Amino acid sequence: MKTALVLSALAVLLPSSAALADVDELYKTKNCFACHRIDRNHLGPPFKTIAAKYVDDKGAEVRLAQKIREGGVGVWGPVLMPAQPQVTEAEAATLSRWILDLK
Ligand code: HEC
Repeated sequence: MKTALVLSALAVLLPSSAALADVDELYKTKNCFACHRIDRNHLGPPFKTIAAKYVDDKGAEVRLAQKIREGGVGVWGPVLMPAQPQVTEAEAATLSRWILDLK
C-alpha cells in the first residue's frame, strides 16, 4: 500500500518514460486492462477516445479520477463500469491524468 502510494507519487513527479511505464503497470495490475485498451474498443471505451472527448474540459481530471473509483454508467453507453475500490485516490488521480494525456 505504502509502496504503491510512493510509486504513484513518483509517477506524478517524473514525466519520464520510466514514470509512464509505471502507470502502464498500474493500468494492468489494477484491473483496468480487463475492460479497457488504449486505442481500441473492449468492454469499455478506448482510453484515447476518452482523452479526445475531454480535451477542452478542465474539470475532467478530477471527475474521471472519482469515476475510476466509484464506477458509473451512461456516458458511453449502457454498459456499467463497476466501482474499483482497489484503486487508491492517488492512483486514480495518476490514472486519470495519464488517460487524459493520451490524446
Ligand atoms: C468491468 C469493466 C471495467 C473495468 C474493470 C474498468 N472499466 Fe473503466 N469503463 C468501463 C465502462 C463500461 C465504461 C463506460 C461507462 C459509462 O458509459 O459511463 C468505462 C468508463 C471509463 C472512463 C470514462 C468515464 C467517463 O465518464 O467518461 C474512464 C476514465 C475509465 N473507465 C477508466 C478506468 C480505469 C482507470 C480502470 C482501472 C482502475 C477501469 N476503468 C476499469 C468498464 C470498465
